[in-house]
Amino acid sequence: MVSYSELGLVNTRELFKKAINGGYAIPAYNFNNMEQIQAIIQACVETKSPVILQVSSGARKYANKTILRNMAKSAVEYAHELGYDIPVVLHLDHGDTFELCKDCIETGFSSVMIDGSHLPYEENVALTKKVCEFAHSQKDYVTVEGELGVLAGVEDDVSSEHSHYTQPEEVVDFMTRTKADSLAISIGTSHGRTKFTPEQCTRDANGILIPPPLRFDILEEIEKLIPGFPIVLHGSSSVPIEYVEIIEKYGGKLSDSVGIPEEQLRRAAKSAVCKINIDSDGRLAMTAMIRKVFAETPDEFDPRKYLGPAREELKKLYMHKNQNVLGSAGQA
Ligand code: G3H
Ligand code: 13P
Ligand code: ZN
Repeated sequence: MVSYSELGLVNTRELFKKAINGGYAIPAYNFNNMEQIQAIIQACVETKSPVILQVSSGARKYANKTILRNMAKSAVEYAHELGYDIPVVLHLDHGDTFELCKDCIETGFSSVMIDGSHLPYEENVALTKKVCEFAHSQKDYVTVEGELGVLAGVEDDVSSEHSHYTQPEEVVDFMTRTKADSLAISIGTSHGRTKFTPEQCTRDANGILIPPPLRFDILEEIEKLIPGFPIVLHGSSSVPIEYVEIIEKYGGKLSDSVGIPEEQLRRAAKSAVCKINIDSDGRLAMTAMIRKVFAETPDEFDPRKYLGPAREELKKLYMHKNQNVLGSAGQA
């Protein structure tokens, strides 16, 4: 049994309270390797931002859970060494079973997501409640994120009544019965680099895809029903066109890429949305730089020579998000 306070980590409780009152969102960045965690910590220390380090079950399979936990512990020490202590949360992203959440809670995570959003409503309630009871009974209180509504995939018609947007009428019942500490909602974001089909978008004068706007009306309705309650947005990468162009220039093929515009995320961050999940943008930044190095210096075979520039670009990206999109800079 490893308790997160021993690792120097914090849960999300105080961070979310401050974020809601301050009109900003805490960045939740996924990590799988050393370069990502270095870039996240460097960017968050330099911008004085709190941070949520997210681990998916895919990341656990790829990198090993003990290694990831110790990377999070090192992240806290690294921030200290860089000269500024920032609050660091270690969070399980998209936990899908009680057993996975329990294992994370018992091995140093300060926060977990139980994603029962694909289950029938009553099953989602029962599973989320079970995880909350376990997480909240620990010596160090572990915070739990639940989810209501299914994020739109490229196949969904986001403008139809058959969408999987969060239904505001379910929210109060869900929160009261589960006692979750925060709630991920579906208002039109989605995972990955192709968040909408071209048919769901319009095009600007340069032929660039413009996605349909997020459903701020649903968010506002939810905020009225549970005022001051922490809301989470998944699938919030903006899929910067510059990265897509670099990747395609150097041999990649990423057709129909489209993300969530930054202004909409900025607007969301000013509301009760206090955690914004970003993974795909980091993947694009790394891939763009690695492809560039490979194309420009075909004889390069030292991984530090391509992972180094990828890490630099990641750091720039995260600093930009903290300063100009989420508003978390200066809040640590
Ligand atoms: O929401 C999913 C995250 O982007 C993690 O992705 O399951 O490929 O690690 P992954
Ligand atoms: P993106 O794919 O938009 O980066 O979303 C990441 C996410 O929601 C992780 O849970
Ligand atoms: Zn997600």
